Amino acid sequence: MTLTVAQGARLAGREMSAWAFNGTCPGPTLRVRPGDLLRARLINHIDQPTNLHTHGLHVSPHGNGDNPFVTIEPGDSFDYAIAVPADHPAGTFWYHPHHHGTVADQIFAGLAGALLVDGGPDPDLPVTDDLVLLVTDITLDGAGRVAAPNMMARMMGREGELVLVNGQHQPVITAVPGAVQRWRVVNGCVSRVLALRLREHRLTQVALDGVFLPAPADRDQVVLAPGNRADLLVRPTRSGRYALVSEPYDRGSLGMMGGMTDGGPSAAGPVTLATLVTSGTATPSAALPARLPAPSIPSDSVSRRRQITFAMGMGRMGMGGMAFTIDGRTFDPGRDDQTVALDTVEEWTVVNTSPMDHAFHLHAWPFHVLTGAPAAGVRQDVVLVPARGSVRLRIPFTDYPGRSVYHCHVLDHEDLGMMATVNVR
Ligand code: C2O
Ligand code: CU
Ligand code: CU
Repeated sequence: MTLTVAQGARLAGREMSAWAFNGTCPGPTLRVRPGDLLRARLINHIDQPTNLHTHGLHVSPHGNGDNPFVTIEPGDSFDYAIAVPADHPAGTFWYHPHHHGTVADQIFAGLAGALLVDGGPDPDLPVTDDLVLLVTDITLDGAGRVAAPNMMARMMGREGELVLVNGQHQPVITAVPGAVQRWRVVNGCVSRVLALRLREHRLTQVALDGVFLPAPADRDQVVLAPGNRADLLVRPTRSGRYALVSEPYDRGSLGMMGGMTDGGPSAAGPVTLATLVTSGTATPSAALPARLPAPSIPSDSVSRRRQITFAMGMGRMGMGGMAFTIDGRTFDPGRDDQTVALDTVEEWTVVNTSPMDHAFHLHAWPFHVLTGAPAAGVRQDVVLVPARGSVRLRIPFTDYPGRSVYHCHVLDHEDLGMMATVNVR
């Protein structure tokens, strides 16, 4: 398949100067099956380097598989061949550019798409409609150009004024009472945390970050860090209108430098993402399975424990702004920050010393969150590390040797240097 990155797209019904994969925001939904070789030619028609990252896939970082170090210059193209292993979980993933320094700019301008792995162990969910809800945010100026954030917004992590679902502003989702819809919600926002609620209706979560939970879980609110995905079952029993909102979420502050930006814009009030409208004759809803095929926590003994510290400090003199560091350093692609023995299990404690949340993300090797997060034991690939808090992770570094990265998925922070490398061998 070919993905062309170019300027110009229809967005929220208007012609925009946004960037797009194949002319649409979001880009086309890619579908693969376990055992497939995903071949994609990325053609770069924008005026800055870019590349492609398949977020959350447990694939080899070797060669061009999941390589954040690839640079595709303007006018060039690159052929990706990503081998999805035969035992890969089926679920909801996504893709976006990952060229250090412009990741936030490029996603904010429209470059993101869903990536679904089909097949795999089938828990036999009685789903009538299967929908992707890729949530992004954007700020446009009067001329329909993507607005650039100021330094303060970058440091806080930019949040767009418009929150879009599949490139549309507050779309309507229709359903018949009794039908079971599966919503694959992707938080494709650069910095915004989504605190999802379906008003007057509960959400049943069945998966997080592309893998099933041990059992369906009823939730009033589902919190997604940037990059997280949740698969939700929605089962309206009567006709009505139900707003899907993101409730206020306080991401913390820049401390002394903060002022007006404290909490981030979305701390101020709820935002409507979409409206579910149900009408018609109710059909009886089928029962959900009691158990789901969740991957279990690796029980192998932990061969090594590490502490990783996310911090914000004053930037270098004359640079202005703040430094966003991991273990006191900003990103250097040539340096190995952690060296891990292949096929071992490690425990990492990620400590956040700053007055603001960060979102820890590791490529290629998904982890289990042991403490400090609502869904303890569940496998995921992005986890919020609360301001002045920490999380403990168990990470099986299995299957693939190679070099990749971990970083803050508040992507402005990643671009400001909050990224580091891991070399598994
Ligand atoms: Cu979704 Cu390293 O990124
Ligand atoms: Cu990723
Ligand atoms: Cu951060």
